[in-house]
Amino acid sequence: MEHNRYKVFTYGCQMNESDSLRMGTQLEQLGYKSTENLEDATIILINTCCVRESAEKKIHGKIGEIKNLKRKNPEIILGVVGCMAQKEGEKLFRKAPHIDFVLGTNKIHELNNVINDIKMSRHHMTNLAPDDGGMPQEVLPPTSDALSVWVPITYGCNNFCTYCIVPYVRGREHSRPMSAIIDEVQNYSKTGVKEVTLLGQNVNSYGKELTDTSFAKLLYELDKIDGIERVRYMTSHPRDLSDEVIDVIRNSRHICSHFHLPVQHGSDRILKAMNRGYTIENYRNLIKKVRTAVPDCSLTTDIIVGFPGETDEDFKDMLEFIKEMRYDAAYTFLYSKRSGTPAATMENQVEEKVKKERLNKLMAVQNEISLEINKKLEGSVVEVMVEGPSRTDEAVYTGRTSNNKIVLWEKRGQEQAGDLVQVKINHAQTWVLKGDAIYG
Ligand code: 5AD
Ligand code: SF4
Repeated sequence: MEHNRYKVFTYGCQMNESDSLRMGTQLEQLGYKSTENLEDATIILINTCCVRESAEKKIHGKIGEIKNLKRKNPEIILGVVGCMAQKEGEKLFRKAPHIDFVLGTNKIHELNNVINDIKMSRHHMTNLAPDDGGMPQEVLPPTSDALSVWVPITYGCNNFCTYCIVPYVRGREHSRPMSAIIDEVQNYSKTGVKEVTLLGQNVNSYGKELTDTSFAKLLYELDKIDGIERVRYMTSHPRDLSDEVIDVIRNSRHICSHFHLPVQHGSDRILKAMNRGYTIENYRNLIKKVRTAVPDCSLTTDIIVGFPGETDEDFKDMLEFIKEMRYDAAYTFLYSKRSGTPAATMENQVEEKVKKERLNKLMAVQNEISLEINKKLEGSVVEVMVEGPSRTDEAVYTGRTSNNKIVLWEKRGQEQAGDLVQVKINHAQTWVLKGDAIYG
């Protein structure tokens, strides 16, 4: 029995985190238990990301590390799963023959079959999704005592932004039936889950290929489920955010007032080359609409610097635009060339050094804005859902506000994970708010 342990390494987005948990559920059906100690594991899974080259490099490093372990214990089964697995397929065996199997995206439900086959034959095995990604079969959600869970609602992406590899690996967009999602969340509510985060590459287009289904309708239904205090979602495409969704959020009890609307750039010329499907003016109007409807909402974004052809002028436009938007936070990325995407063969690729300089400038401007926005909260009282002790100090607790600000306070009461507490903010920083919980 002591050999029945597994360890999953997860890279990339929340969809991968969710898939990793669902793979864990399957392994548990085979009698395996999770372990944090790699030396104990006989199944090791690496759930991969390929959205940027930096992720791929890290993953190759991790695959390399497992080689020595396998030399010591040949019983170990090493599986590489997820996006990079889907993209590279059999090529991975050539680079690293100690890998036992490669399982593509949307193939989570095949995991146990593949493992059973390997145990019998010890041959390399590959199982990849078809070209359009396909609609994955339902996999049991994890049976844990978690308070916060991920719930996939769409798979794949139809947008083909010219820099992005996702539509090529994860295939066309498919929406899960609304009844499956509602059932899953209802079941969670009975096990004490308080927060759900809906996942998809572009949740705003949820239900487009189904009848009588839309993201607004889904949110409306989920808002009614008792016990679920907070509903979040990731990630959105600004072009597809409908008036109905804004309306449902404004009138809801539990849908968080946080809008993550990736703008990607601040210059119309670059947005066009990125195939984003909106102009700066469209985006500006959307944000006005959102902020008028939900005045206390927080707004975050994703931005890429160094897209091919980006001039100093384009970069200046980007800086001006983020100053105008005053985002609560921005996730900033260096453009990474992904072969197979249209942008990879565009002329005027920006030099690495220039990209890095621009990224540093952008981060400095955004950090100042984030800090200014957070400073305004000093002296106010915010409602926080308790997550538990912080990573560095058992006595300091952490949680989030409805609009996704991270709050830290010294625990002096009985609060537990999942509770809602009031915290008076007395020290705001760029990424976190520190304060005192108000008891009784
Ligand atoms: N290079 C850099 N960033 C990228 N993203 C997607 N593809 C690339 C790429 N090739 C970023 C986008 C997206 C986020 C999840 O990752 O900003 O919103
Ligand atoms: Fe990539 Fe664009 Fe789809 Fe997002 S919307 S996954 S950036 S292609």
